[in-house]
Amino acid sequence: MRKILAAGNWKMNNTPSQAVAMINELKGKVAGCKNDVLLCPTFVCLDAAVKAAEGSNIKIGAQNLHFEDKGAYTGEISAQMLREIGVEYVIIGHSERREYFAETDDTVNAKVIQALKYELIPVLCCGETLKQREDKVTFDFIRSQIKIAFRNISKEDATKIVVAYEPIWAIGTGKVATSEQANEVCKDIRECLAGIYDKETADNIRILYGGSVNKDCAAELFAMSDIDGGLVGGASLKPDDFSIICNA
Ligand code: 13P
Repeated sequence: MRKILAAGNWKMNNTPSQAVAMINELKGKVAGCKNDVLLCPTFVCLDAAVKAAEGSNIKIGAQNLHFEDKGAYTGEISAQMLREIGVEYVIIGHSERREYFAETDDTVNAKVIQALKYELIPVLCCGETLKQREDKVTFDFIRSQIKIAFRNISKEDATKIVVAYEPIWAIGTGKVATSEQANEVCKDIRECLAGIYDKETADNIRILYGGSVNKDCAAELFAMSDIDGGLVGGASLKPDDFSIICNA
């Protein structure tokens, strides 16, 4: 049985003090929530966020990591650094990182392997552009992203990964995919994973939907057969709205 995960990706928003205030506000609103709750603030907020979330059911994740253990990589953050401050999850391969920071399927795969090596749970993002959807290559494109991202990952490790299907045309646009559109891709991702591993393994992997998830559509999305929660941007910056999503 897969547990619903409501994950907030704060992107480049909130200073450390704002992050702490927001977590303190959210804590009470999600106490007793049956779903898993995750917040992913920026690197500089992580330490304060982990401390603020202590004793609550809110988990903290980073938005990126480097695929090497350590070394001359100015400006980068390692898995070990994240582990030491108590971070448990890490978003990998978000479309904004792929588009603006030249991340490729290969670096995404290397980062997933690195996260697993340090027992961080990867939230692995995939998703098509509007043009790809219109050209009817969505399924092929997502399958190629998934196949490379899961390369050299054992069956046992695969079940630790959370996949987030985020169609790029739905991110930050207010244009949320219909629950049927979102579910058919999540279902196809699961079939692709069953092909790489087996059905049992695929059935144990959580697949989230992301892209303009809001308090009004979350419950319907999360009730779909192959959607196991959401990766939420804008609405995760509003504690009232995000708590409704977490409780959906
Ligand atoms: P929005 O919810 O703001 O569309 O962002 C989605 C997203 O990119 C989460 O990672």
